[in-house]
Amino acid sequence: MQILAIETSCDETAIAVVECDGGAEGSSFAVRAHVVATQIETHRPFGGVVPSLAKREHLKNLPRVFDSIVSELKAKSYTLKPDRIAVTVGPGLEPALWTGINFANDLARKLGVPLVGANHLEGHMYSNWLGGAKIAFPAVMLLVSGGHTALVRMDGIGTWEKLGETQDDAAGEAFDKVAKMLGLPYPGGPEVEKAARAGNPDAIAFPRPMLHSGNFDFSFSGLKTAVLYHLKANQANEADAANICASFQKAAVDVLAAKALRAADECGAASLLLCGGVAGNGALRAELAKRAEEEGIAFHAPAMEYNTDNAVMIAAAAYLGTAHQADAALPNLNI
Ligand code: KG4
Ligand code: ZN
Repeated sequence: MQILAIETSCDETAIAVVECDGGAEGSSFAVRAHVVATQIETHRPFGGVVPSLAKREHLKNLPRVFDSIVSELKAKSYTLKPDRIAVTVGPGLEPALWTGINFANDLARKLGVPLVGANHLEGHMYSNWLGGAKIAFPAVMLLVSGGHTALVRMDGIGTWEKLGETQDDAAGEAFDKVAKMLGLPYPGGPEVEKAARAGNPDAIAFPRPMLHSGNFDFSFSGLKTAVLYHLKANQANEADAANICASFQKAAVDVLAAKALRAADECGAASLLLCGGVAGNGALRAELAKRAEEEGIAFHAPAMEYNTDNAVMIAAAAYLGTAHQADAALPNLNI
């Protein structure tokens, strides 16, 4: 089944054409074309995503990205003949989402194929299946992005329940805000990780919020404020900045890893999965891999290019989220 997928929920305009086969259990994904146009440079001066600018950029980028997809397919002598068009319908920035939905709707009418809505968070979750890994259930998923932080239990493809989530800032948001305090550019996650490599993770004893809360919720705003107070009390130079990044990252990773492993233990999980933009963080990946190995649990994370927002994961969500249903039951978008 050929799926053309469109993602515009935040600051990436992405389109992909993916051949999806095998049904829910033996799924395989062949990426035929995949383009992401990032808006990072547009939003960087503001230190975060500006919804009205995101909308403007998506409107400009969508036809261009589509043209690139068509050229990419042509170069590979591959025919664009989608069985389904999938588009992210949420969660995300409302004005940004609608640019993708309207574009997808027009294309679906033009090509005469069904339009299917996909959940952005399911996209991140199902990105773990893109590489063809056979994932054993039950699984516990740590979803860490710029907008969300959650622990999810999965008992099979399409069967998941949220165990807990952040009560305030998302993990990626905390990385972005700490970077901003230190004068590092947006998006801050990769910048903080880079700076942390030159620092001592035990230099500053930042708090580990909700580590012992007895549930699977998170909170990152207290940790962010602790960094702010530390900065106010100390004149940070470059060496201090590295120590701040390393100590902040260690505190965040400690809480995420401890809670993910506790959830895996409580659910009797066979697999621990990671996804979302923050899944690109090497310290978090390494810590989860180490702790999962100690517990005899398989650890999976998506290939690096599929951690941050892209449309390949939206194709996977549209396929896996509905693969176990008869075609008649597809959640067609009637707009
Ligand atoms: O999943 P994503 O592309 O967008 C949302 O759905 O939110 O995630 C973007 C977030 C940003 O907050 C970014 O700073 C963070 O992921 N991020 C990282 C790293 N790479 C991206 N955070 C920590 N370490 C990284 N290496
Ligand atoms: Zn995302």
